[in-house]
Amino acid sequence: MRERGRVGILISGRGSNMVSLVEAMRSGRIAADPVVVLSNLPAAEGLRRAAEFGIPTEVVDHKEVKPRGTHDAAVVAVLKRYEVDLVCLAGYMRLLSPVMVDTFRARMLNIHPSLLPAFPGLDAQRQALEYGVKIAGCTVHFVDEKCDQGPILLQAAVPVLGDDTEASLSRRILEQEHVLYPQAVALFFEGIRSTAV
Ligand code: GRF
Repeated sequence: MRERGRVGILISGRGSNMVSLVEAMRSGRIAADPVVVLSNLPAAEGLRRAAEFGIPTEVVDHKEVKPRGTHDAAVVAVLKRYEVDLVCLAGYMRLLSPVMVDTFRARMLNIHPSLLPAFPGLDAQRQALEYGVKIAGCTVHFVDEKCDQGPILLQAAVPVLGDDTEASLSRRILEQEHVLYPQAVALFFEGIRSTAV
């Protein structure tokens, strides 16, 4: 077991969860380092933010590299090249094929903006509002072949207020995401250490 873990972070958008993970690693709250930030979209805002942190960035454009299995195999190859111990999906808007899931089984986490198993899939915050739940939240779970259904590592709850809009609820959940995801990744590496022989 290495002294410090190596984390690859996959994004498709603004990358605020990626930033929260990077800050937690850089500040020593997680015994690991961000070794690569990868996106399927060349224009993902988070790539610029990762570069500002001095983290290597990679793009495997899903419009160029097709079909899905070939794209995922290319992503796996990049992650192997960086020798990642853990893959963190952080707003990575892709369904995963078996090559990804099998390669990183029990070594890949995702964050989802609902209290799973409620409201999997897209627009989870809107689903929660439309259903009328009074408690919403976020979940960090291991990734398996079923979308948003792998074993749950941590969850955080937030209240839904009477005048909430999708934007205001999303903001309140996102604040908790930025706390929860670093806690989950810290736990992952503490767990690995305590079981290593
Ligand atoms: C977050 O709400 C996350 O839960 C979901 O996608 C969003 C990504 O936001 N999977 P960001 O790119 O991390 O800011």
